Amino acid sequence: DLELVTTDLIQLFKSMKTGASRIHTVMSALKNFTHLDESGFKEVDIQKNIEAVLALLRYRLSARSDDLQIQVQTDYRNLPLIYGYAEQINQVLFNLILNAIEAIECKYNHWNRHSFQPQIKIWTEIRDNQSIAIGIQDNGIGISLESQARLFEPFFTTKPAGQGLGLGLVTSQRIIEEMHNGRLSYVSSTEKGTQWIVELPLFKQSSPSGRADNTINF
Ligand SMILES: Nc1ncnc2c1ncn2[C@@H]1O[C@H](COP(=O)(O)OP(=O)(O)O)[C@@H](O)[C@H]1O
Ligand SMILES: [Mg+2]
Repeated sequence: DLELVTTDLIQLFKSMKTGASRIHTVMSALKNFTHLDESGFKEVDIQKNIEAVLALLRYRLSARSDDLQIQVQTDYRNLPLIYGYAEQINQVLFNLILNAIEAIECKYNHWNRHSFQPQIKIWTEIRDNQSIAIGIQDNGIGISLESQARLFEPFFTTKPAGQGLGLGLVTSQRIIEEMHNGRLSYVSSTEKGTQWIVELPLFKQSSPSGRADNTINF
C-alpha cells in the first residue's frame, strides 16, 4: 500500500514537469479524496505506519549521498489502533516528514553548517481518551509569516520548480479534517523550526461483545 502511495507521489512529481495542462487532472484527483468508498476505512496502527514512512525516506534522512545526516528521534506512547484510511494517513505522514526534511535541507544549504544539528522529532500521545496526536517537529528553516498566510492554498510552494508542487498541505488537511474529522495544526518560527500536529479521533467500541465494529462516527 505504501508502494502505491509512493507511486502516486512520484506520479505527482512527474506531472508537475508537464505543466499547466495537468493541473486539471490533479484537481479532479483531489476532489475524489472525499468520495472514497468506506471499505478502505479500517484499523490503522499509527506507530507502524510512521516507521514504514521513515524507512521509505531513509535515503533522504541518513543514507544520503551528501554529508547531511538528519537525526530522527521518536517517542511513541502506547497507542490503540484507530479507524481510518490507512493509505491516506500514510500519505499525510509522508508529506509532513518530507516537508520537514526539505526544510532541514534548505537550512543546511544556506546556513552555517557547523553549528547546525539537523533533527526531526516524532511523538505520539493519547489526548483525553478522545483522540490521538502525532507530532512532527523539525529544526529547519521555519515558515515565514507571509508563507503562513498562504500555506493551505493549492499550489502554494516556496520550493524551486521541479521540487515543490504545493499540494502536500492542502491534501493533508483534506485527509485529516474532512475524511477523518481530525485536526491538522502547526507552530512555526524561523528560529526554532516547525512542529506539525495531526489529531485523529479515537472511535469508541460500540458493539456489545466489546469488539470494535466499523461504525464511522463523523
Ligand atoms: N516543515 C516545514 N518547514 C518549513 N516550511 C514548510 C514546512 N512544511 C511546509 N512548509 C511550507 O509550506 C509550503 C507548502 O508545502 P506543501 O503543500 O507540502 O508543498 P511543497 O512541499 O510542494 O512546497 C512549502 O513550500 C513550505 O514553504
Ligand atoms: Mg510538501
